[in-house]
Amino acid sequence: MARKRVGILISGRGSNMESLIDAAQAKDFPAEIVRVVSNRPDAKGLEAAQRKGIATAVVDHTKFSTREAFDAALQETLKSAKIEILCLAGFMRVLTNGFVENWQGRILNIHPSLLPAYKGVDTHKRALAAGEKTHGATVHFVVPELDSGPIVIQEKVPVKEGDDEKTLAARVLAVEHRIYPAALKLLAAGKISVKDNKVLFV
Ligand code: GRF
Repeated sequence: MARKRVGILISGRGSNMESLIDAAQAKDFPAEIVRVVSNRPDAKGLEAAQRKGIATAVVDHTKFSTREAFDAALQETLKSAKIEILCLAGFMRVLTNGFVENWQGRILNIHPSLLPAYKGVDTHKRALAAGEKTHGATVHFVVPELDSGPIVIQEKVPVKEGDDEKTLAARVLAVEHRIYPAALKLLAAGKISVKDNKVLFV
């Protein structure tokens, strides 16, 4: 079967992006990463993608006066690369409902918490402040409401005594790098779908 053409949206470091690119090197991986797009020209991840031989593009959100105009330009970039599945990997822009609906069932995000706990930013800081004993990461389908889509894979990590934001983030990130490629593999192989806002394994 033809491998699915995947685009990755980033805004920064791109370590999750790298984990997806690396996983897709495997001969039996059902997807290929064909384009990495950043909304920030200075995103470190752009160089990392180029080093790994992946074509990159920048759609700079500061050049657009509305979210709709930015999303339309993004859509055009993805269309020209014939992208079939979209992965958000540390992409720090809220997408319009219209854009998300266009990609329904074909767009994933990685979030550094056990959703639905700790939606939004500063997840590690808030989990530590609340005295959580368990934290983790979630891969979910993207829906218009932020960090709220159906969950594909979720994995826990312990919060250890003496943890600070940095040590906890590193423990969670190691999990992110494992579960994101696993979730993309399931989607690209047609092994999951969404029904009634839930993920079905087929
Ligand atoms: C990750 O923790 C991801 O879950 C969150 O932002 C961070 C991005 O890291 N959305 P990277 O750019 O993938 O290294």
